[in-house]
Amino acid sequence: MASDADRESLVSAAGEAEERAIESALRPKNLSDFVGQARVRQQLSLVLEASRIRERTADHVLLSGPPGLGKTTLAMIIAAEMNAPLRISSGPAIQHAGDLAAILSSLTEGEILFLDEIHRMSRPAEEMLYMAMEDFRVDIIVGKGAGATAIPLDLPPFTLVGATTRAGLLPGPLRDRFGFTGHLEFYSTQELELVLRRSAMLLDLKINSAGFAEIAGRSRGTPRIANRLLRRVRDWALVHGVEEIDARTAAAALDMYEVDARGLDRLDRSVLSALITKFGGGPVGLSTLAIAVGEETETVETVAEPYLVREGLLGRTPRGRVATAAAWAHLGIEMPESAVRTGADLFTVLAEDETDFSDN
Ligand SMILES: Nc1ncnc2c1ncn2[C@@H]1O[C@H](COP(=O)(O)OP(=O)(O)O)[C@@H](O)[C@H]1O
Ligand SMILES: [Mg+2]
Repeated sequence: MASDADRESLVSAAGEAEERAIESALRPKNLSDFVGQARVRQQLSLVLEASRIRERTADHVLLSGPPGLGKTTLAMIIAAEMNAPLRISSGPAIQHAGDLAAILSSLTEGEILFLDEIHRMSRPAEEMLYMAMEDFRVDIIVGKGAGATAIPLDLPPFTLVGATTRAGLLPGPLRDRFGFTGHLEFYSTQELELVLRRSAMLLDLKINSAGFAEIAGRSRGTPRIANRLLRRVRDWALVHGVEEIDARTAAAALDMYEVDARGLDRLDRSVLSALITKFGGGPVGLSTLAIAVGEETETVETVAEPYLVREGLLGRTPRGRVATAAAWAHLGIEMPESAVRTGADLFTVLAEDETDFSDN
């Protein structure tokens, strides 16, 4: 599957490698600096506080949610709040049970083990993890075939923090072994403004309130994107000799980078505009639409569509893709009667059979 990272885009939620260093400078270090996600923050703070009082390692924590919303940041905050060392690995890095055994057997008491993309771990490793999470014990298999023996090994108590963008892909037994699951939601524009204010302070940038609002509005509910757009605006202001960034500066900068007022990029807009100008708003099949914009079907489906659907600009119906009234309005094109009618009919069908289309 093509991920967002395969395509260079300012509004991709995936973090590129060279971005990580900058990101770590902007990461909040404790729970009180972590903006938004009030419910998760409150619940997590209770879990951590209780374990401090009981002088026990905290329950295992599962963090789920789309990329760029703060899962890695929260894992680091958990370690900091528990004053515990942090070990970082990820599902794709653990392909054999032995890889996991090596990590587990070297943990120290109270250590936080962060497993990113935990849904991508191999099956045998996953099964080893069950026992480790529940009984703090693993069986190390020595030898092969009939002569193989399992040597039990006790582990020091540790806290597993798992992160996943696809909670639905986690097997039930694994999900059940987490004492606490925090699901991260997209951020409101107001919350993103707070994220941006904090980052601007750390980067020593002067921006007024309207400037923050302008950037936040284009950030797709995602702190990672907000911070990235902020850096682009900073560059623009620097080159143009702007001292204090206002809404006009921010808008001019981001328009130049082709991120529009709703956070759509060039591909998103070309999908909508093909749908509207070439197919009268649809319905049109995905592959036809992809050809019309000169992209792979998969790119249109996995890169552009999720956000367009989330924003209520595009609908997936049994007969193809349709542009909603909001999409016509966003492109500034008047919606003809005929499009209103087809659109409305299709959405009735969709509402009756919604489950088929709710995924991704
Ligand atoms: N609640 C938040 N408050 C402030 N900054 C945040 C918040 N959530 C995420 N960020 C910023 O967004 C960037 C991406 O966050 P990260 O934790 O790496 O996301 P994820 O692991 O979910 O993909 C980081 O640089 C972090 O500083
Ligand atoms: Mg992460």
